[in-house]
Amino acid sequence: MITINGVTKAFGAKTLFENVSVQFTPQRRYGLTGPNGAGKSTFMKILQGDEDPNRGSVSVPKKIGILRQDQFRYNDVRIIDTVLMGNKTLWAALEERDKLYAEENLTDEMGLRLGELEGIIADENGYVAEQEAAELLQGIGIEESQHTELMNVLPNDLKFRVLLAQALFGGPEALLLDEPTNYLDLQSIHWLEETLINYSGTLVVISHDRHFLNSVCTHIADIDYETIIIYTGNYDDMVSAKTQSRGKIESENRDKQKKIAQLQEFVARFGAGTRSSQTQSRVKEIKRLEPTELKKSNIQRPYIRFEQKRPSGREVMVVKGISKSYPQNDGTTLKVIDDFSMTVTRGEKIGIIGNNGLGKTTLLQMFVGQLAPDGGTIETGHEATTGYFPQDYKQGIAPGMTAFAWLQSFSKEEGVEILRGLLGKMLFGGDSALKQTDTLSGGEAARLIMAKLMLEQNNVLVLDEPTNHLDLEAVSALAQALEKYQGTAIVVSHDRDLISQVATRIIALTDEGIADFAGTYEEYLDALKTDKPIARPKKIAATR
Ligand SMILES: Nc1ncnc2c1ncn2[C@@H]1O[C@H](COP(=O)(O)OP(=O)(O)OP(=O)(O)O)[C@@H](O)[C@H]1O
Ligand SMILES: [Mg+2]
Repeated sequence: MITINGVTKAFGAKTLFENVSVQFTPQRRYGLTGPNGAGKSTFMKILQGDEDPNRGSVSVPKKIGILRQDQFRYNDVRIIDTVLMGNKTLWAALEERDKLYAEENLTDEMGLRLGELEGIIADENGYVAEQEAAELLQGIGIEESQHTELMNVLPNDLKFRVLLAQALFGGPEALLLDEPTNYLDLQSIHWLEETLINYSGTLVVISHDRHFLNSVCTHIADIDYETIIIYTGNYDDMVSAKTQSRGKIESENRDKQKKIAQLQEFVARFGAGTRSSQTQSRVKEIKRLEPTELKKSNIQRPYIRFEQKRPSGREVMVVKGISKSYPQNDGTTLKVIDDFSMTVTRGEKIGIIGNNGLGKTTLLQMFVGQLAPDGGTIETGHEATTGYFPQDYKQGIAPGMTAFAWLQSFSKEEGVEILRGLLGKMLFGGDSALKQTDTLSGGEAARLIMAKLMLEQNNVLVLDEPTNHLDLEAVSALAQALEKYQGTAIVVSHDRDLISQVATRIIALTDEGIADFAGTYEEYLDALKTDKPIARPKKIAATR
């Protein structure tokens, strides 16, 4: 059971939520929802004890499993250690013990401390911990030979599974997950859904993925109107309940206001005259009718519009027979891209789809010149300039400065007004333009990168999973912006809705190879079902 008592959290003048008292009960699966910047991650940090509330208290079970929003932070840690770190007490004791054993001369004091540490390790089941962690890893499909490798050798989906194993390690009574479906393909999302549905403790999970929330959650805790309200049911149930209750208050308020206006008219007309007792009672009535105060909803839509300074030539990029392999631990190499060719023409909107680990990010990194192919060539066309949204975009935002200063560092002749305007469109109006870059929420950081792309006005956009972290309003604003964009866009995404709204050509990475299909996502799906030669993928090159 997680209990929250009268919790208030504000940063400066901005209140995220006020005087919140809620409970999260075992065997229930709560989705924590709300727009970007509403305070979901902050609330989670308060539950985890990483952040203090301004007022109020929380009580959580002793053992909680945590998955943070930043899923890249264990890159230099061994895979098995990453799982063991899930038990903080145990991990700290193990580390201290190893350090002491490495000392040449043990003092008595150190010897005593070693005894204490062995006690802690025994209490935390430390002697079977490696075994347990290894079993968890096996369960998520990571072979024993890999357990001592560093996290950064793993593709994102497996990295994520290890982090989830970390959260599950040691049988936690509550599981707190911040945006677990980002970076996962559909198959892995299904795997995650199954795992969570079978979890019997208290689950609190943050997500912007409607489908995921609907299939996993029994309850929704929604952060909006500066408070947290718990609704029974899944995400869709919450949305309809929320709209209804707000609609009801709004219509009651309208009725009250009408009545008040009538009463005020009476008071104004007769207030000074003889009917003083009648006016008095009406004044009282006006006070009683005071409309229920409605806090403003946090839900806001950014305005995304990509312009290009000048158009590129007709041929934007010519890719000829490129290939790329990565060496594997067992000495073999994995050929991710094999003899792939394509020509990108001005104005095309290319959607790149496919499961995790098939090479989508590799392909984009080669397109933008961050990674050299092993063989083959990539030529960029005349006057083509590229804006890139990398998958781990947050690392591209330098810490220790304001959002405004960061954006300004990319501007050439643009003045303060233009930069302010762009930030305003991306919902950093007024003071929030001066937010520190390290405090930005996941979605806010993504919006700041969008502001940079809008500023640069390139004629080619290469976006690697841009919708991760974005709330529903922002995703739909992005889809519209890409549709309207006059330049060329190449977008990797697992978001089927975005791909089907935007893409005019599909590059599908599959286990059998890469299909290059001239058509929309729906046409591509149809083509897969039929044998019509025209609708078949133009080229399938076996890559594995
Ligand atoms: N240390 C801090 N100082 C000042 N402001 C902060 C700090 N940490 C977070 N904020 C602000 O508090 C708000 C809530 O941030 P939080 O990360 O909790 O949002 P979120 O709901 O998780 O959003 P997202 O969906 O984008 O992940 C944001 O506006 C953020 O900029
Ligand atoms: Mg967050």
